[in-house]
Amino acid sequence: MSEAAKPSGGVGARLFQPLRIRGLDLANRIVISPMCQHAADDGRATDWLLVHLGKFVLGGAGLVLTESTAVSPEGRIGLKDLGLWRDDQIAPLARVVDFVHAQGGRIGVQLAHAGRKAGSEALWEGGRAFSAEQLAALRWPRLGPSAISPGPGWTVPQELDAAGIARVLQGFGDAARRADAAGVDCVELHFGHGYLAASFLSPISNHRNDAYGGSLANRMRLPLDIARTVREALPANKPLFCRISAVDGAEGGWGMDDSVVFARELAAVGVDVIDVSSGGLSEETRALPVPRGLGFQVGFAETIRRETGLLTQAVGMIVDGPQAEDILARGQADLIAIGRAALEDPYWPRRAWEQLHGTSDFATWPVRHGIWLAKREQGLGSLLEARRRELRTRSDSGH
Ligand SMILES: Cc1cc2nc3c(=O)[nH]c(=O)nc-3n(C[C@H](O)[C@H](O)[C@H](O)COP(=O)(O)O)c2cc1C
Repeated sequence: MSEAAKPSGGVGARLFQPLRIRGLDLANRIVISPMCQHAADDGRATDWLLVHLGKFVLGGAGLVLTESTAVSPEGRIGLKDLGLWRDDQIAPLARVVDFVHAQGGRIGVQLAHAGRKAGSEALWEGGRAFSAEQLAALRWPRLGPSAISPGPGWTVPQELDAAGIARVLQGFGDAARRADAAGVDCVELHFGHGYLAASFLSPISNHRNDAYGGSLANRMRLPLDIARTVREALPANKPLFCRISAVDGAEGGWGMDDSVVFARELAAVGVDVIDVSSGGLSEETRALPVPRGLGFQVGFAETIRRETGLLTQAVGMIVDGPQAEDILARGQADLIAIGRAALEDPYWPRRAWEQLHGTSDFATWPVRHGIWLAKREQGLGSLLEARRRELRTRSDSGH
């Protein structure tokens, strides 16, 4: 029995319309974007992850996605990534999943292999790539499609051979089965940001001359094999999302036309939603970024949605309810992923509701909080509103 409904319905607010994908019923269109916390214990979810993810479900998001969760130890971004490469990592994740479900929420896990960008410090530790000596001490092979590093400071990765490719596929399949065993409602594949799958897709990082390199069809082969493997490992009622980088942002790299072809191929192997991000391939592409601005990647989601008819998830600098609502109203995406704005305010969906409806909907808050807030609003609402107006006037006049 869930303790709180998620905000849903409402006249005109597309952001709060439900969506059914396979057997998954989402109460609204708000998805919490995957965000690495570097807080797991040997791949196992900790109290930090329970609170970090749990507060977003209290905040009213229709779906919460975990951070990129490694399918093998060498596929981690850092030492403390979430992981699903061993069975003992299932129960700690199930604890988080159970909490989300108890609150009437939905949760998906983002499965990832970091490839040639594996092994680095958390940003607050400096964000540096582990050196060759550190990797050797950790017995951590850095793997990629070709012996090409993502930039200065990164070692040259080992080129994946046939046995290595088979291990990657096995890792994704086993991790998907563990995610299902933990009770997650859906899985997202992380095929963006220059990690293993993205590095196979891009001609900048993939110089292979076997069945996994060269033509677009060959460069898509491993990512599509991964998607097919994960789809087969999941029950048919659980949706599969896939995050891609729509463009590398560099001359001669992966581009929008490639993404449209790839999205169609992903759909053919059973991917339901394309989560459209961009960039991240290498230092070179970081130097030539897609211009940042509000909703800077939304146009990519729109193109994929228009060209393929697939469900898309828009992400990147979507900061308030009206902006999210406009994206849905213009038909640019079906789901809205919120990252840093939710770090700033885990109650972002409830704020968005207020911005779009001009009123709070305490009936959909967690009951332990909502009942008190509704009571206060009834008795003291006009006082609170007068105080809020006063504060707005003060900040407008610079006091
Ligand atoms: C702390 C942090 C960690 C992130 N980790 C991931 C990740 O694990 N997987 C991923 O696909 N994107 C990751 N991202 C990117 C976000 O999911 C999102 O795409 C990006 O922050 C842009 O959206 P925003 O402007 O709403 O924050 C991360 C972003 C932040 C801020």
